[in-house]
Amino acid sequence: MIIDGKKIAEDLRQNLKKEISNLKTTVKPCLVVILIGDNPASKIYVKNKEKSAGDVGIKSEVIKFETNISEKDLLKKIEDLNSDNNVHGILVQLPLPKHIDEGKVINTINPIKDVDGFHPVNVGNLSSGNEAMIPCTPLGCYLLLKEVIRDFNGKNVVIIGRSNINGKPMAQLLLRENCTVTVTHSKTKNIEKICREADIIVVAAGKAKILNKNWVNKNSVIIDVGINRILEKGSKKIVGDADFENIKNEVYAITPVPGGVGPMTIACLLKNTLKAYKNQIK
Ligand code: GUN
Repeated sequence: MIIDGKKIAEDLRQNLKKEISNLKTTVKPCLVVILIGDNPASKIYVKNKEKSAGDVGIKSEVIKFETNISEKDLLKKIEDLNSDNNVHGILVQLPLPKHIDEGKVINTINPIKDVDGFHPVNVGNLSSGNEAMIPCTPLGCYLLLKEVIRDFNGKNVVIIGRSNINGKPMAQLLLRENCTVTVTHSKTKNIEKICREADIIVVAAGKAKILNKNWVNKNSVIIDVGINRILEKGSKKIVGDADFENIKNEVYAITPVPGGVGPMTIACLLKNTLKAYKNQIK
């Protein structure tokens, strides 16, 4: 089975749109995205975020700064946005220029407006099983899994990659659902064997097509977080961390790249923005 992330994300956006159009309040949900410098990938991501927000009725503003903005000025801007009652979500696009401390930036965003779910308060709340803002990509992966998995209790999950953005929050999210979670990474021994025995594999390794036939079984569900730009037979192509063409018929279900996790990440950012809004107008 191919898990159609594009369609599932579209349904989620339609539901958000409906809910937003039914809001009785005069202040509408508002997301501010801060973009620093001119990283081409970041520019595309931010443009997509802005467009998708508008499509569902979320007001959005992109604040652009030159690469050489000082850390102090950036933190001051975040503090201003924290105290602006018309702003409900704040997202600082990563990566940041080297002279800016990412941790300090994340720590400065008010956790209630932290639509990325990167603030330590949200990280802690997710891992304690409390109400939290959940990072968009793991949340999107979880919603995709829910389409094919009826009962998460006791499922063996293997996560490949241990980043703060994907692997770690994914592990916490699925632990909360009573899965048995193994987090693997570049130093893990016997990774193929560990993966082959899993019910669910979430791969966020950042390596094109590393997940091949030897890593899966007929009942595996594969969620592919990878976005790798490669050159194949002379043309540029985007592929995931799974060798999709060669394993799609060897597993129970798999997400394609593109059209799997990617569209869900943005839809979940909008979902988080609406959630942040509702928490703030309470
Ligand atoms: N850069 C790549 N992915 C992300 C993300 O999920 N959030 C932010 N803020 N920056 C990113």
